[in-house]
Amino acid sequence: MRLLLLGGPGAGKGTQARPIAAKFGLTHLSSGDMLRREVALGTPTGLAARGYMDRGDLVPDDVIIGMLVQPMTDAARDHGYVLDGYPRTVPQAEHGYDVGRPLDIHVQVVVYLSVPTAELVRRLLARARGVDDTRDVIANRIRVFERDTIPLLDYFTTRGEKVIEIDGTRPVEVVTAAILRELQPLA
Ligand code: AP5
Repeated sequence: MRLLLLGGPGAGKGTQARPIAAKFGLTHLSSGDMLRREVALGTPTGLAARGYMDRGDLVPDDVIIGMLVQPMTDAARDHGYVLDGYPRTVPQAEHGYDVGRPLDIHVQVVVYLSVPTAELVRRLLARARGVDDTRDVIANRIRVFERDTIPLLDYFTTRGEKVIEIDGTRPVEVVTAAILRELQPLA
């Protein structure tokens, strides 16, 4: 299975990606976790990404694509993947499709975790992971999500992929069970 989790900042993508990956034996690829690792190690990718992340802006597509395409290809050739945070712009998705379609490794299913803005803000302020979980940066992350990532729902629908919307406001275990129920027939 090749799955993309979509949702605003704090919608629960990372939280839900882990049990989904465990259940279906998939590789969990989190662009945010990968970037934070690069920043911590002080690599060229990390140095290029840090300022954007601290402001809640998107890291440029070429940096993201350079970091993600090979792990995505490897995972797809293995048992499949759960993508968490990538692609999050239409150009990233188009590039992934151009590379992935001929190899049959492109995204097949999209799970959209729907959570209202006020709840996203509440969760991120409560988590306080770092400078990107402060009020102004959270507001920017939500603006960027609405501007650049929400259009992916139409993009994948138009492309003919299965898009499943899940109410992400419920307790974690309830959301997980709802996602697994939807995915089981596709496994
Ligand atoms: P990234 O780490 O992907 O940040 P994000 O999308 O803003 O997502 P989060 O990790 O904050 O939220 P999540 O949806 O995973 O929720 P989580 O499960 O953690 O990216 C960080 C930055 O990297 C970006 O701003 C950008 O700069 C850059 N970047 C990354 N990918 C990029 C790309 N493709 N292109 C360009 N730039 C990119 O949960 C959040 C909190 O809520 C937790 O405390 C959790 O316990 C809690 N929670 C989860 N579910 C529930 C629930 N059901 N009920 C109550 N609480 C819950």
